[in-house]
Amino acid sequence: PRILILGAPGAGKGTQSAKITAEFDVDHITTGDALRNNKEMDISDMDTEYDTPGEYMDRGELVPDDVVNAIVDEALSQADGFVLDGYPRNLEQAEELEDMTELDVVLYLDVSEEELVHRLTGRRMDPETGDIYHLEYNPPEDPEVEDRLVQRDDDTEETVKERLSVFQENTQPVIEHYEEQGDLERVDGEQAPDEVWADVKSTIERNA
Ligand code: AP5
Ligand code: ZN
Repeated sequence: PRILILGAPGAGKGTQSAKITAEFDVDHITTGDALRNNKEMDISDMDTEYDTPGEYMDRGELVPDDVVNAIVDEALSQADGFVLDGYPRNLEQAEELEDMTELDVVLYLDVSEEELVHRLTGRRMDPETGDIYHLEYNPPEDPEVEDRLVQRDDDTEETVKERLSVFQENTQPVIEHYEEQGDLERVDGEQAPDEVWADVKSTIERNA
């Protein structure tokens, strides 16, 4: 299936995408991870305000559309089934996406702002596997993993605030756009991860 997963920063897109790729035969296409792996890439020839993606990301701002559109276009051309995570983040990107591919299901993980802040500030990553944890909700069992956990550069309180306001201003209209088209499958993302997964899985199965 061709799956789009939408949600605010910290809504659980990465967490649910990992479950989706384990269950269904799809690639995980994530602009956030792709950009984090290329934070120092020189984009100054694209006439951008800053010279690298990292300078946007560490401020909580969106990386310019031209950079992100190229990443998604390339990844989609190599994928049959996919779960697309982190894109589109504004109406211009949504329009680009419509020219690139069709979608079978558009999921939206609905989570309150208070919970989002709690999830983002408590999130930790395993730099070796890329696995996502939470200090309180989902701590690793292995003490060796616990010792090497790192915090994402943009999970500081100040940057989290900026990311949430960028979401409200730029991405909320994308969600409304899919809702108006009648395509949006709203999932209660505030439930425990396994309960969210049960809803995500059945929604995909109904639409695939
Ligand atoms: P990106 O990496 O996409 O970040 P984001 O959208 O802010 O989302 P997150 O990855 O923070 O959250 P998530 O929804 O994946 O939640 P997770 O599963 O980790 O983008 C980063 C930056 O890159 C952007 O700010 C921008 O600069 C740039 N960028 C990316 N795409 C772009 C684009 N298209 N255009 C322009 N710029 C772009 O979960 C969060 C935490 O909660 C974890 O600790 C997890 O364990 C926990 N958790 C998850 N589910 C639950 C649950 N059900 N109950 C309790 N805890 C849970
Ligand atoms: Zn993510």
